[in-house]
Amino acid sequence: MSLKYRIGVYNAISAKGLERFPAAHYIVGKGLGAPDAILLRSHALQVSEIPASVKAVGRAGTGVNNIPVDVMSERGVPVFNAPGANANAVKELVFACILAASRNVVPAAAYVNALEGTADFEKRVEEGKKQFAGFELPGRTLGVIGLGAIGGLVADTAIKLGMKVLGYDPEITVDNAWRLPSAVKRAGSIEEVIKGAEFVSLHLPLTDKTRNLIDAKKLAQARRMVLLNFARDAIVDEEAVLAALAEKHLRKYVTDFPSPKLKGHPGVLALPHLGASTEEAEENCALMVVEQLRGFLEEGTVANAVNFPSVEMARESPFRIAIANANVPNMVGQISTTMAQAGLNIHNMLNKSKRSSSGCARQSTASTTASSKRSTSARSSRAPSARSRWGRPIAPSARRRSCAASRSATRDRSRRRPRRCCFAKSCRRAWRSSVLSRSPTWGPRGPSVSARL
Ligand SMILES: NC(=O)c1ccc[n+]([C@@H]2O[C@H](COP(=O)([O-])OP(=O)(O)OC[C@H]3O[C@@H](n4cnc5c(N)ncnc54)[C@H](O)[C@@H]3O)[C@@H](O)[C@H]2O)c1
Repeated sequence: MSLKYRIGVYNAISAKGLERFPAAHYIVGKGLGAPDAILLRSHALQVSEIPASVKAVGRAGTGVNNIPVDVMSERGVPVFNAPGANANAVKELVFACILAASRNVVPAAAYVNALEGTADFEKRVEEGKKQFAGFELPGRTLGVIGLGAIGGLVADTAIKLGMKVLGYDPEITVDNAWRLPSAVKRAGSIEEVIKGAEFVSLHLPLTDKTRNLIDAKKLAQARRMVLLNFARDAIVDEEAVLAALAEKHLRKYVTDFPSPKLKGHPGVLALPHLGASTEEAEENCALMVVEQLRGFLEEGTVANAVNFPSVEMARESPFRIAIANANVPNMVGQISTTMAQAGLNIHNMLNKSKRSSSGCARQSTASTTASSKRSTSARSSRAPSARSRWGRPIAPSARRRSCAASRSATRDRSRRRPRRCCFAKSCRRAWRSSVLSRSPTWGPRGPSVSARL
Protein backbone atom coordinates (compact mmCIF):
# COMPACT_ATOMS: atom_id res chain seq x y z
CA MET A 1 0.00 0.00 0.00
CA SER A 2 1.86 3.09 -1.15
CA LEU A 3 -0.77 5.77 -0.51
CA LYS A 4 -1.01 7.76 2.70
CA TYR A 5 -4.63 8.44 3.51
CA ARG A 6 -5.52 11.62 5.38
CA ILE A 7 -8.20 11.40 8.06
CA GLY A 8 -9.65 14.69 9.32
CA VAL A 9 -10.86 14.31 12.92
CA TYR A 10 -13.50 16.75 14.23
CA ASN A 11 -14.10 15.54 17.81
CA ALA A 12 -12.28 13.68 20.56
CA ILE A 13 -12.30 10.09 19.32
CA SER A 14 -11.23 7.14 21.48
CA ALA A 15 -7.48 6.62 21.16
CA LYS A 16 -8.01 2.86 20.87
CA GLY A 17 -9.97 3.49 17.68
CA LEU A 18 -7.49 5.96 16.20
CA GLU A 19 -4.65 3.51 16.85
CA ARG A 20 -6.26 1.23 14.29
CA PHE A 21 -5.13 3.55 11.51
CA PRO A 22 -1.61 2.24 10.76
CA ALA A 23 0.78 5.18 11.03
CA ALA A 24 2.69 4.00 7.96
CA HIS A 25 -0.33 4.51 5.76
CA TYR A 26 -2.47 7.14 7.49
CA ILE A 27 -2.11 10.72 8.63
CA VAL A 28 -4.74 11.39 11.28
CA GLY A 29 -5.44 14.72 12.91
CA LYS A 30 -7.57 17.81 13.46
CA GLY A 31 -7.55 20.58 10.84
CA LEU A 32 -5.91 18.45 8.12
CA GLY A 33 -6.09 19.89 4.62
CA ALA A 34 -7.52 17.77 1.78
CA PRO A 35 -8.68 14.85 3.94
CA ASP A 36 -9.70 11.58 2.29
CA ALA A 37 -12.19 10.96 5.06
CA ILE A 38 -13.77 12.77 8.00
CA LEU A 39 -14.18 11.13 11.40
CA LEU A 40 -16.47 12.82 13.93
CA ARG A 41 -18.92 12.40 16.77
CA SER A 42 -21.23 15.34 17.45
CA HIS A 43 -19.62 18.06 15.31
CA ALA A 44 -22.31 19.65 13.10
CA LEU A 45 -20.96 19.01 9.63
CA GLN A 46 -23.78 21.05 8.09
CA VAL A 47 -22.03 24.26 9.12
CA SER A 48 -18.57 23.19 7.95
CA GLU A 49 -17.18 23.34 4.48
CA ILE A 50 -16.59 19.78 3.39
CA PRO A 51 -13.51 19.59 1.16
CA ALA A 52 -13.95 18.06 -2.29
CA SER A 53 -11.24 15.53 -1.40
CA VAL A 54 -13.54 13.78 1.10
CA LYS A 55 -14.48 10.28 -0.03
CA ALA A 56 -16.12 9.04 3.16
CA VAL A 57 -17.57 10.33 6.44
CA GLY A 58 -17.54 8.22 9.59
CA ARG A 59 -19.64 8.99 12.67
CA ALA A 60 -18.47 7.26 15.85
CA GLY A 61 -22.07 6.93 17.04
CA THR A 62 -25.53 6.05 15.78
CA GLY A 63 -27.53 9.18 14.86
CA VAL A 64 -26.36 11.01 11.74
CA ASN A 65 -28.49 14.13 12.00
CA ASN A 66 -25.33 16.25 12.42
CA ILE A 67 -24.24 15.18 8.94
CA PRO A 68 -25.78 16.45 5.67
CA VAL A 69 -26.40 12.92 4.41
CA ASP A 70 -28.31 14.01 1.28
CA VAL A 71 -25.50 16.35 0.27
CA MET A 72 -22.99 13.56 0.78
CA SER A 73 -25.15 11.18 -1.27
CA GLU A 74 -25.25 13.72 -4.10
CA ARG A 75 -21.46 13.82 -3.95
CA GLY A 76 -21.22 10.03 -3.97
CA VAL A 77 -19.77 9.95 -0.47
CA PRO A 78 -20.85 7.17 1.88
CA VAL A 79 -21.69 8.12 5.47
CA PHE A 80 -20.78 5.38 7.94
CA ASN A 81 -22.08 5.06 11.50
CA ALA A 82 -21.71 2.56 14.31
CA PRO A 83 -25.13 0.98 14.80
CA GLY A 84 -25.49 -0.83 18.08
CA ALA A 85 -21.97 -0.02 19.32
CA ASN A 86 -23.33 2.23 22.08
CA ALA A 87 -26.65 0.46 22.60
CA ASN A 88 -25.72 -1.14 25.93
CA ALA A 89 -24.50 2.19 27.32
CA VAL A 90 -27.81 3.89 26.47
CA LYS A 91 -29.84 0.97 27.79
CA GLU A 92 -28.06 1.08 31.15
CA LEU A 93 -28.70 4.80 31.51
CA VAL A 94 -32.36 4.33 30.58
CA PHE A 95 -32.75 1.85 33.44
CA ALA A 96 -30.76 4.03 35.82
CA CYS A 97 -33.36 6.73 35.08
CA ILE A 98 -36.38 4.42 35.21
CA LEU A 99 -35.25 3.30 38.67
CA ALA A 100 -34.37 6.86 39.69
CA ALA A 101 -37.83 8.05 38.61
CA SER A 102 -39.73 5.21 40.27
CA ARG A 103 -37.88 5.73 43.58
CA ASN A 104 -37.54 9.55 43.43
CA VAL A 105 -33.79 9.14 43.83
CA VAL A 106 -32.78 12.59 42.61
CA PRO A 107 -35.17 14.74 44.73
CA ALA A 108 -34.60 12.46 47.72
CA ALA A 109 -30.83 12.92 47.52
CA ALA A 110 -31.31 16.67 47.03
CA TYR A 111 -33.51 16.74 50.17
CA VAL A 112 -30.82 15.08 52.27
CA ASN A 113 -28.10 17.35 50.89
CA ALA A 114 -30.16 20.41 51.76
CA LEU A 115 -30.55 19.44 55.44
CA GLU A 116 -28.37 21.21 57.93
CA GLY A 117 -26.16 19.07 60.16
CA THR A 118 -28.00 20.01 63.34
CA ALA A 119 -28.93 17.79 66.30
CA ASP A 120 -32.34 16.92 64.80
CA PHE A 121 -30.75 15.74 61.51
CA GLU A 122 -31.85 12.07 61.85
CA LYS A 123 -35.35 13.07 62.92
CA ARG A 124 -35.74 15.26 59.83
CA VAL A 125 -34.39 12.53 57.57
CA GLU A 126 -37.10 10.16 58.86
CA GLU A 127 -39.81 12.81 58.63
CA GLY A 128 -38.89 13.76 55.07
CA LYS A 129 -38.67 10.31 53.54
CA LYS A 130 -42.44 9.81 53.24
CA GLN A 131 -42.69 12.26 50.38
CA PHE A 132 -40.20 10.22 48.35
CA ALA A 133 -41.89 6.81 48.63
CA GLY A 134 -41.84 5.13 45.23
CA PHE A 135 -43.06 2.00 43.48
CA GLU A 136 -41.52 -1.20 42.15
CA LEU A 137 -41.12 -2.26 38.55
CA PRO A 138 -42.39 -5.87 38.22
CA GLY A 139 -45.85 -5.86 36.65
CA ARG A 140 -45.53 -2.25 35.42
CA THR A 141 -45.71 -1.60 31.69
CA LEU A 142 -42.89 -0.06 29.69
CA GLY A 143 -43.70 1.24 26.22
CA VAL A 144 -40.77 1.20 23.79
CA ILE A 145 -41.07 3.30 20.63
CA GLY A 146 -38.40 2.23 18.15
CA LEU A 147 -37.22 -1.37 18.49
CA GLY A 148 -33.78 -1.17 16.93
CA ALA A 149 -30.44 -1.79 18.62
CA ILE A 150 -31.21 0.25 21.76
CA GLY A 151 -34.98 -0.27 21.94
CA GLY A 152 -34.51 -4.03 21.60
CA LEU A 153 -32.07 -4.15 24.53
CA VAL A 154 -34.33 -1.91 26.64
CA ALA A 155 -37.31 -4.20 25.94
CA ASP A 156 -35.29 -7.29 26.78
CA THR A 157 -33.99 -5.89 30.07
CA ALA A 158 -37.47 -4.73 31.09
CA ILE A 159 -38.84 -8.23 30.56
CA LYS A 160 -35.99 -9.64 32.68
CA LEU A 161 -36.93 -7.18 35.44
CA GLY A 162 -40.48 -8.51 35.44
CA MET A 163 -42.02 -5.63 33.53
CA LYS A 164 -44.55 -5.89 30.70
CA VAL A 165 -43.42 -4.37 27.41
CA LEU A 166 -45.53 -2.76 24.73
CA GLY A 167 -43.48 -2.10 21.60
CA TYR A 168 -44.11 0.05 18.55
CA ASP A 169 -41.94 0.12 15.44
CA PRO A 170 -43.60 0.21 12.02
CA GLU A 171 -40.25 -0.21 10.25
CA ILE A 172 -38.67 -2.91 12.39
CA THR A 173 -36.10 -5.02 10.55
CA VAL A 174 -36.43 -8.78 10.38
CA ASP A 175 -33.20 -9.22 12.37
CA ASN A 176 -34.38 -6.88 15.14
CA ALA A 177 -37.77 -8.60 15.25
CA TRP A 178 -36.02 -11.97 15.69
CA ARG A 179 -33.95 -10.61 18.57
CA LEU A 180 -36.97 -9.32 20.52
CA PRO A 181 -38.25 -11.45 23.40
CA SER A 182 -41.55 -13.07 22.50
CA ALA A 183 -43.11 -11.47 25.59
CA VAL A 184 -42.96 -8.04 23.94
CA LYS A 185 -46.50 -7.08 22.95
CA ARG A 186 -46.87 -5.33 19.64
CA ALA A 187 -48.77 -2.04 19.62
CA GLY A 188 -50.47 -0.70 16.50
CA SER A 189 -49.84 2.98 17.24
CA ILE A 190 -47.98 5.38 19.48
CA GLU A 191 -51.30 6.35 21.07
CA GLU A 192 -51.85 2.72 22.08
CA VAL A 193 -48.44 2.68 23.75
CA ILE A 194 -49.01 5.95 25.59
CA LYS A 195 -52.46 4.90 26.81
CA GLY A 196 -51.22 1.54 28.07
CA ALA A 197 -47.84 2.25 29.68
CA GLU A 198 -46.53 3.77 32.92
CA PHE A 199 -43.15 4.40 31.29
CA VAL A 200 -42.52 5.20 27.63
CA SER A 201 -38.99 5.19 26.27
CA LEU A 202 -38.15 6.65 22.85
CA HIS A 203 -35.52 4.93 20.70
CA LEU A 204 -36.14 6.10 17.16
CA PRO A 205 -34.13 8.38 14.88
CA LEU A 206 -34.86 12.06 14.32
CA THR A 207 -36.13 12.49 10.77
CA ASP A 208 -38.60 14.83 9.08
CA LYS A 209 -41.27 12.25 9.90
CA THR A 210 -40.40 11.93 13.58
CA ARG A 211 -39.86 15.63 14.38
CA ASN A 212 -42.37 16.62 17.12
CA LEU A 213 -43.83 13.12 16.93
CA ILE A 214 -44.66 13.24 20.64
CA ASP A 215 -47.02 16.21 20.68
CA ALA A 216 -49.76 17.65 22.89
CA LYS A 217 -52.48 15.45 21.40
CA LYS A 218 -50.60 12.25 22.14
CA LEU A 219 -49.44 13.35 25.60
CA ALA A 220 -53.03 14.21 26.58
CA GLN A 221 -53.73 10.46 26.51
CA ALA A 222 -51.06 9.63 29.08
CA ARG A 223 -52.02 8.72 32.64
CA ARG A 224 -49.28 9.82 35.04
CA MET A 225 -46.66 8.44 32.68
CA VAL A 226 -42.88 8.79 32.86
CA LEU A 227 -41.57 9.76 29.42
CA LEU A 228 -37.91 8.98 28.68
CA ASN A 229 -36.21 10.60 25.72
CA PHE A 230 -32.76 9.22 24.98
CA ALA A 231 -33.32 9.51 21.22
CA ARG A 232 -33.25 13.18 20.13
CA ASP A 233 -34.69 16.39 21.58
CA ALA A 234 -36.74 17.45 18.56
CA ILE A 235 -38.74 14.21 18.53
CA VAL A 236 -40.62 15.63 21.52
CA ASP A 237 -42.51 18.93 21.58
CA GLU A 238 -41.12 20.62 24.73
CA GLU A 239 -44.09 22.98 25.17
CA ALA A 240 -46.41 19.97 25.07
CA VAL A 241 -44.27 18.23 27.71
CA LEU A 242 -44.45 21.22 30.05
CA ALA A 243 -48.24 21.38 29.61
CA ALA A 244 -48.57 17.62 30.20
CA LEU A 245 -46.50 17.92 33.40
CA ALA A 246 -48.73 20.77 34.59
CA GLU A 247 -51.89 18.78 33.82
CA LYS A 248 -50.42 15.66 35.51
CA HIS A 249 -50.59 13.56 32.34
CA LEU A 250 -46.87 13.18 32.81
CA ARG A 251 -45.35 12.19 36.13
CA LYS A 252 -41.85 12.95 34.91
CA TYR A 253 -39.94 13.80 31.75
CA VAL A 254 -36.49 12.26 31.65
CA THR A 255 -34.33 13.52 28.84
CA ASP A 256 -30.76 13.37 27.64
CA PHE A 257 -31.27 16.74 25.94
CA PRO A 258 -31.53 19.65 28.39
CA SER A 259 -32.79 23.07 27.34
CA PRO A 260 -33.28 26.44 29.04
CA LYS A 261 -37.05 25.82 29.08
CA LEU A 262 -36.73 22.51 30.90
CA LYS A 263 -33.90 23.44 33.26
CA GLY A 264 -34.87 23.47 36.93
CA HIS A 265 -38.42 22.17 36.38
CA PRO A 266 -39.24 19.79 39.26
CA GLY A 267 -40.89 17.32 36.88
CA VAL A 268 -37.88 17.13 34.60
CA LEU A 269 -34.74 15.06 34.99
CA ALA A 270 -32.34 16.30 32.34
CA LEU A 271 -28.89 14.87 31.67
CA PRO A 272 -26.15 16.39 29.53
CA HIS A 273 -26.39 13.93 26.59
CA LEU A 274 -24.78 11.15 28.61
CA GLY A 275 -26.37 8.17 26.83
CA ALA A 276 -23.32 6.93 24.96
CA SER A 277 -20.77 8.47 27.31
CA THR A 278 -19.06 5.39 28.62
CA GLU A 279 -15.51 4.34 27.98
CA GLU A 280 -16.73 1.12 26.42
CA ALA A 281 -19.25 2.73 24.07
CA GLU A 282 -16.83 5.39 22.86
CA GLU A 283 -14.25 2.72 22.20
CA ASN A 284 -16.72 0.37 20.47
CA CYS A 285 -18.00 3.16 18.23
CA ALA A 286 -14.51 4.35 17.31
CA LEU A 287 -13.27 0.83 16.58
CA MET A 288 -16.28 0.05 14.43
CA VAL A 289 -16.22 3.22 12.38
CA VAL A 290 -12.42 3.19 11.89
CA GLU A 291 -12.66 -0.36 10.53
CA GLN A 292 -15.42 0.78 8.17
CA LEU A 293 -13.45 3.78 6.91
CA ARG A 294 -10.37 1.63 6.37
CA GLY A 295 -12.45 -1.03 4.63
CA PHE A 296 -13.80 1.58 2.25
CA LEU A 297 -10.57 3.44 1.55
CA GLU A 298 -8.44 0.34 1.21
CA GLU A 299 -10.84 -2.20 -0.26
CA GLY A 300 -13.92 -0.34 -1.49
CA THR A 301 -15.95 -2.27 1.09
CA VAL A 302 -19.16 -0.58 2.22
CA ALA A 303 -20.54 -1.74 5.58
CA ASN A 304 -23.02 0.18 7.74
CA ALA A 305 -23.32 3.17 5.43
CA VAL A 306 -26.61 4.97 5.96
CA ASN A 307 -26.82 6.09 2.34
CA PHE A 308 -25.10 3.31 0.38
CA PRO A 309 -25.75 -0.39 -0.10
CA SER A 310 -23.45 -2.86 1.60
CA VAL A 311 -20.73 -4.08 -0.75
CA GLU A 312 -18.00 -6.52 0.11
CA MET A 313 -15.83 -8.60 -2.13
CA ALA A 314 -12.81 -10.75 -1.31
CA ARG A 315 -9.59 -9.59 -2.90
CA GLU A 316 -8.41 -11.84 -5.70
CA SER A 317 -6.25 -9.63 -7.85
CA PRO A 318 -3.70 -6.89 -7.17
CA PHE A 319 -5.75 -3.93 -8.39
CA ARG A 320 -9.18 -2.80 -7.37
CA ILE A 321 -11.40 0.11 -8.32
CA ALA A 322 -14.39 1.20 -6.25
CA ILE A 323 -16.84 3.46 -8.02
CA ALA A 324 -19.80 5.36 -6.59
CA ASN A 325 -22.34 6.62 -9.07
CA ALA A 326 -26.03 7.33 -9.56
CA ASN A 327 -28.03 4.72 -11.40
CA VAL A 328 -27.53 6.33 -14.77
CA PRO A 329 -28.66 4.13 -17.64
CA ASN A 330 -25.72 2.28 -19.14
CA MET A 331 -23.29 3.61 -16.50
CA VAL A 332 -21.90 0.17 -15.73
CA GLY A 333 -21.65 -0.53 -19.45
CA GLN A 334 -19.77 2.71 -20.02
CA ILE A 335 -17.40 2.01 -17.16
CA SER A 336 -16.56 -1.47 -18.40
CA THR A 337 -16.17 -0.22 -21.98
CA THR A 338 -13.81 2.53 -20.82
CA MET A 339 -11.82 0.01 -18.82
CA ALA A 340 -11.63 -2.37 -21.77
CA GLN A 341 -10.44 0.48 -24.01
CA ALA A 342 -7.71 1.17 -21.46
CA GLY A 343 -6.64 -2.46 -21.68
CA LEU A 344 -7.98 -3.39 -18.26
CA ASN A 345 -9.59 -6.75 -17.77
CA ILE A 346 -12.41 -7.00 -15.20
CA HIS A 347 -11.58 -10.09 -13.24
CA ASN A 348 -14.57 -9.90 -10.93
CA MET A 349 -17.25 -7.37 -10.10
CA LEU A 350 -19.98 -6.59 -7.58
CA ASN A 351 -22.62 -3.97 -8.23
CA LYS A 352 -25.39 -2.94 -5.85
CA SER A 353 -27.88 -0.13 -5.54
CA LYS A 354 -29.87 1.46 -2.75
CA ARG A 355 -32.86 3.76 -2.87
CA SER A 356 -32.29 6.79 -0.68
CA SER A 357 -34.93 8.58 1.41
CA SER A 358 -35.06 11.28 -1.26
CA GLY A 359 -36.11 8.60 -3.73
CA CYS A 360 -32.90 8.67 -5.74
CA ALA A 361 -31.33 5.34 -6.58
CA ARG A 362 -27.74 5.01 -5.40
CA GLN A 363 -25.30 2.50 -6.64
CA SER A 364 -21.98 1.30 -5.43
CA THR A 365 -19.66 -0.83 -7.43
CA ALA A 366 -16.51 -2.62 -6.45
CA SER A 367 -14.48 -4.39 -9.03
CA THR A 368 -11.13 -6.04 -9.18
CA THR A 369 -9.17 -5.63 -12.31
CA ALA A 370 -6.16 -7.29 -13.72
CA SER A 371 -4.18 -4.74 -15.63
CA SER A 372 -3.16 -7.01 -18.42
CA LYS A 373 -3.97 -6.79 -22.08
CA ARG A 374 -2.85 -10.33 -22.46
CA SER A 375 -5.59 -11.78 -20.29
CA THR A 376 -8.37 -9.53 -21.60
CA SER A 377 -11.01 -11.00 -23.81
CA ALA A 378 -14.52 -9.72 -24.40
CA ARG A 379 -15.99 -13.14 -23.92
CA SER A 380 -14.21 -14.00 -20.73
CA SER A 381 -14.92 -10.66 -19.07
CA ARG A 382 -18.61 -11.05 -19.85
CA ALA A 383 -19.11 -14.68 -18.99
CA PRO A 384 -21.57 -14.66 -16.10
CA SER A 385 -22.25 -17.98 -14.49
CA ALA A 386 -25.88 -18.39 -13.46
CA ARG A 387 -25.12 -21.73 -11.89
CA SER A 388 -23.17 -23.06 -8.98
CA ARG A 389 -20.00 -24.98 -9.55
CA TRP A 390 -22.12 -28.16 -9.42
CA GLY A 391 -24.27 -26.88 -12.27
CA ARG A 392 -27.38 -26.26 -10.15
CA PRO A 393 -29.21 -22.88 -10.16
CA ILE A 394 -28.13 -20.73 -7.20
CA ALA A 395 -30.86 -20.36 -4.56
CA PRO A 396 -31.44 -16.76 -3.37
CA SER A 397 -30.51 -17.61 0.22
CA ALA A 398 -27.22 -19.14 -0.91
CA ARG A 399 -26.20 -16.40 -3.33
CA ARG A 400 -23.47 -14.80 -1.29
CA ARG A 401 -21.92 -18.11 -0.43
CA SER A 402 -22.28 -19.35 -3.98
CA CYS A 403 -20.69 -16.20 -5.29
CA ALA A 404 -17.62 -16.96 -3.18
CA ALA A 405 -17.74 -20.60 -4.18
CA SER A 406 -17.85 -19.86 -7.86
CA ARG A 407 -15.06 -17.36 -7.48
CA SER A 408 -12.86 -19.92 -5.79
CA ALA A 409 -13.74 -22.41 -8.48
CA THR A 410 -12.53 -19.88 -11.01
CA ARG A 411 -9.33 -19.49 -9.04
CA ASP A 412 -8.76 -23.23 -9.09
CA ARG A 413 -9.43 -23.52 -12.76
CA SER A 414 -7.46 -20.38 -13.55
CA ARG A 415 -4.23 -22.33 -13.41
CA ARG A 416 -5.33 -24.17 -16.48
CA ARG A 417 -7.50 -21.52 -18.12
CA PRO A 418 -6.29 -18.12 -16.97
CA ARG A 419 -8.66 -16.14 -19.18
CA ARG A 420 -11.84 -17.50 -17.61
CA CYS A 421 -13.79 -14.93 -15.57
CA CYS A 422 -16.80 -15.70 -13.42
CA PHE A 423 -19.85 -13.73 -12.20
CA ALA A 424 -22.41 -15.19 -9.83
CA LYS A 425 -26.10 -14.86 -10.73
CA SER A 426 -26.70 -12.23 -8.06
CA CYS A 427 -23.95 -10.01 -9.44
CA ARG A 428 -25.37 -10.31 -12.94
CA ARG A 429 -28.86 -9.35 -11.72
CA ALA A 430 -27.54 -6.30 -9.95
CA TRP A 431 -25.76 -5.28 -13.10
CA ARG A 432 -28.92 -5.51 -15.11
CA SER A 433 -31.05 -3.64 -12.62
CA SER A 434 -28.58 -0.81 -12.40
CA VAL A 435 -28.36 -0.50 -16.16
CA LEU A 436 -32.12 -0.27 -16.34
CA SER A 437 -32.60 2.26 -13.56
CA ARG A 438 -32.58 6.05 -13.87
CA SER A 439 -31.93 9.44 -12.28
CA PRO A 440 -28.53 10.88 -13.13
CA THR A 441 -27.04 13.07 -10.43
CA TRP A 442 -23.34 12.63 -10.03
CA GLY A 443 -22.95 9.93 -12.67
CA PRO A 444 -21.98 12.11 -15.63
CA ARG A 445 -18.79 13.25 -13.99
CA GLY A 446 -17.63 9.67 -14.48
CA PRO A 447 -16.09 7.08 -12.24
CA SER A 448 -14.25 8.16 -9.15
CA VAL A 449 -11.53 5.83 -8.05
CA SER A 450 -11.60 5.59 -4.30
CA ALA A 451 -9.19 2.76 -3.77
CA ARG A 452 -6.20 1.65 -5.70
CA LEU A 453 -3.67 -0.55 -3.99
N1 LIG B 1 -28.63 9.67 24.01
C1 LIG B 1 -27.60 9.24 23.35
O1 LIG B 1 -26.46 9.49 23.70
C2 LIG B 1 -27.84 8.38 22.15
C3 LIG B 1 -26.89 7.38 21.82
C4 LIG B 1 -27.16 6.56 20.75
C5 LIG B 1 -28.28 6.74 19.99
N2 LIG B 1 -29.16 7.73 20.31
C6 LIG B 1 -30.38 7.93 19.51
O2 LIG B 1 -31.14 6.74 19.58
C7 LIG B 1 -31.70 6.48 18.30
C8 LIG B 1 -31.91 4.99 18.17
O3 LIG B 1 -30.64 4.33 18.17
P1 LIG B 1 -30.52 2.80 17.72
O4 LIG B 1 -29.07 2.46 17.78
O5 LIG B 1 -31.47 1.95 18.47
O6 LIG B 1 -30.98 2.92 16.20
P2 LIG B 1 -31.59 1.79 15.26
O7 LIG B 1 -31.49 2.30 13.89
O8 LIG B 1 -30.99 0.47 15.57
O9 LIG B 1 -33.14 1.74 15.70
C9 LIG B 1 -34.05 2.74 15.41
C10 LIG B 1 -35.40 2.08 15.28
O10 LIG B 1 -36.39 3.11 15.19
C11 LIG B 1 -37.39 2.64 14.32
N3 LIG B 1 -38.24 3.72 13.83
C12 LIG B 1 -38.01 4.59 12.82
N4 LIG B 1 -39.05 5.43 12.70
C13 LIG B 1 -39.94 5.09 13.66
C14 LIG B 1 -41.22 5.59 14.03
N5 LIG B 1 -41.79 6.62 13.39
N6 LIG B 1 -41.86 4.99 15.06
C15 LIG B 1 -41.30 3.95 15.72
N7 LIG B 1 -40.11 3.43 15.40
C16 LIG B 1 -39.43 4.00 14.38
C17 LIG B 1 -36.60 1.95 13.22
O11 LIG B 1 -37.42 1.05 12.48
C18 LIG B 1 -35.53 1.23 14.01
O12 LIG B 1 -35.92 -0.08 14.35
C19 LIG B 1 -30.67 7.04 17.32
O13 LIG B 1 -31.27 7.43 16.10
C20 LIG B 1 -30.07 8.22 18.04
O14 LIG B 1 -30.72 9.40 17.65
C21 LIG B 1 -28.96 8.55 21.39
